[in-house]
Amino acid sequence: MKKRVAVLISGRGSNMAALIAAAKDPRYPAEIVLVLSNRPSAAGLAIARAAGIATAVVDHTTHGNDREAFERAMQAQLDQHRIEFVCLAGFMRLLTPWFVRQWPGRMINIHPALLPAFKGLDTHARALADGAKTHGATVHFVEEDMDCGPTILQGAVAVRDDDTAATLAERVLAVEHKIYPEALALVAAGRVTIVDGRCRIEGVDVGDGHVIVPPP
Ligand code: GRF
Repeated sequence: MKKRVAVLISGRGSNMAALIAAAKDPRYPAEIVLVLSNRPSAAGLAIARAAGIATAVVDHTTHGNDREAFERAMQAQLDQHRIEFVCLAGFMRLLTPWFVRQWPGRMINIHPALLPAFKGLDTHARALADGAKTHGATVHFVEEDMDCGPTILQGAVAVRDDDTAATLAERVLAVEHKIYPEALALVAAGRVTIVDGRCRIEGVDVGDGHVIVPPP
């Protein structure tokens, strides 16, 4: 049985689109059954609808400062659609411990940096400002602290001398679109276990580090 997955977005939804595309493969172990946005204007909602996927909006602004009320409304949607795994994909709200505890080992996130480097926002500009030679993206389980939790997959790109935050973001995004569907497939297939805070991936020869470096 394919696992029932919800993708939570706030905007563009290109990672969501990559997950939807991957899940079209009959052999893919998950199906995207719901796309949920906290912003009614999120561009990704139209992409999801065009793909025939149910969408929902839980607008955080209608819940004032009550983060848990907002999250309870999201949880109600997830329950209604019998969701088994949650993928955060550019979802720009911090989650409370209450919500995170609803999804132990069943909620993953993509972050545009090689965690634990560059948690938070503006990762590409900060990587350049720091003189990083390697940058990339991380798919990880969600824990209560922001951008924390066991890493499932990372993908790296070399930083070029003439990179700007925009050119770097573009190459990292291409990596995101590869590693997120791959990571969800591993998790949904039950091939990822967390041992001592680290992910072990069954049946994968991690070789020299499970890093994907796309050609220039
Ligand atoms: C991505 O860079 C993702 O890593 C970050 O937010 C961005 C969302 O982009 N968390 P998109 O909405 O998936 O296009």
